[in-house]
Amino acid sequence: MIKDDDKTRTSRRRFLAGATGLTAGLAAAGVTGVAQANDKNLPPNVADWSKSLGDGVAVRPYGHPSKFEKNVIRRDVQWLTASRESSVSFTPLHDLDGIITPNGLCFERHHGGIAEVDPHDYRLMIHGLVERPLIFTLEDLKRLPRVNKIYFLECAANSGMEWRGAQLNGCQYTHGMIHCVQYTGVPLKLLLEQAGVKPNGKWLLVEGGDASGLDRSLPLEKALDDCMIAYRMNGEMLRPEQGYPARLVVPGWQGNMWIKWIRRIKVGDQPWYTREETSKYTDLMPSGKARKFTFEMDAKSVITSPSPQAPLTRKGFTVISGLAWTGRGKVKRVDVSLDGGRNWRTAKIDGPVLDKACVRFYAEIEWNGEPLLLQSRAMDETGYVQPTKDALRKIRGVNSIYHNNGIQTWALKANGEVENVEVG
Ligand code: MTE
Repeated sequence: MIKDDDKTRTSRRRFLAGATGLTAGLAAAGVTGVAQANDKNLPPNVADWSKSLGDGVAVRPYGHPSKFEKNVIRRDVQWLTASRESSVSFTPLHDLDGIITPNGLCFERHHGGIAEVDPHDYRLMIHGLVERPLIFTLEDLKRLPRVNKIYFLECAANSGMEWRGAQLNGCQYTHGMIHCVQYTGVPLKLLLEQAGVKPNGKWLLVEGGDASGLDRSLPLEKALDDCMIAYRMNGEMLRPEQGYPARLVVPGWQGNMWIKWIRRIKVGDQPWYTREETSKYTDLMPSGKARKFTFEMDAKSVITSPSPQAPLTRKGFTVISGLAWTGRGKVKRVDVSLDGGRNWRTAKIDGPVLDKACVRFYAEIEWNGEPLLLQSRAMDETGYVQPTKDALRKIRGVNSIYHNNGIQTWALKANGEVENVEVG
């Protein structure tokens, strides 16, 4: 536990005093970033890669990142991985910028492994309280009018290991159960209109085609509002890990409801109370009662750099960077604190600010080597402000693993290393 002590307050004062050195800091950044460079490739020499022809086109029919980026990968946490088929891998948030997650880096959460669905044999059935039960092939879905939407998907268990205190050292692990991609697909409303929902139809049972057959109850109102059956992400067909060839998109709501390899939608007049919405994905309160159907994801943010996996390597001009999101619409503002939440400054949001999508924020500082307690806090358009972890615990206790959207603190040490801590 790190206390917000005098030392931290000192650093705040010094930061303000040092802010005018920005230009000098920028210039310095330009010349010091080559510490491990090989002299023979540096000016005025001609670099190795300029002396011979490179690979021709189509040597890599499907492109992949530079070999120098080989550490930018999904990672898992061993003690969370009881079996690979029912586990989770995390998005390397500290290595990314902007708001779009590259397809190969989207975190994965499977309950029965990755189903390998032959697109020719893929079928989506709609039945129950409908006028016309229907079965769609993938081709049927692709022929229908489609939309393109950028949304975040956050697992309700994201940051779930942090309820009782700071535990995992890296935003990949504390916050990496999120991705944000552009989906292409058919509005679910369109499919339901074709089937003709009967007047007493109020809920949908949505079911996956993997070995877990994961199923959830979805209110009809949400299905008709903004849900979609997506078959593309970031332009290409869904990755097998993300539910190829089709998944349910439930904007702003917990990831567990975004059924992958979706095979069936049954219309009913009440929720089903499936395993995944009773024994799981309910939030156990201090009283022993559980909150049920906590579908919506609250506003949340995290500084992705610097962070434990992205330490600072030099003093001077530094861009603090992070992500913010809310399931309730648009992010309105993000604040950053350097002193554990005593003082806040408004961060700069750059890039699109879209409904139920991530936003990218930046705060520029002049770091003189003082230890800092870095925090970010998101506010959404409904006026909701991301709470501190302690404020959250006061109401929700520590029994739950879901919906932990408390403010994250990173302790930046004098040597540039960063640690996951809590301020008390
Ligand atoms: N759908 C099926 N059919 N099977 C699953 O195991 N996992 C759910 C959801 N949809 C799951 C599923 C959970 S818990 C989450 S958080 C998201 O998918 C994860 O989506 P992703 O793997 O694309 O990140």
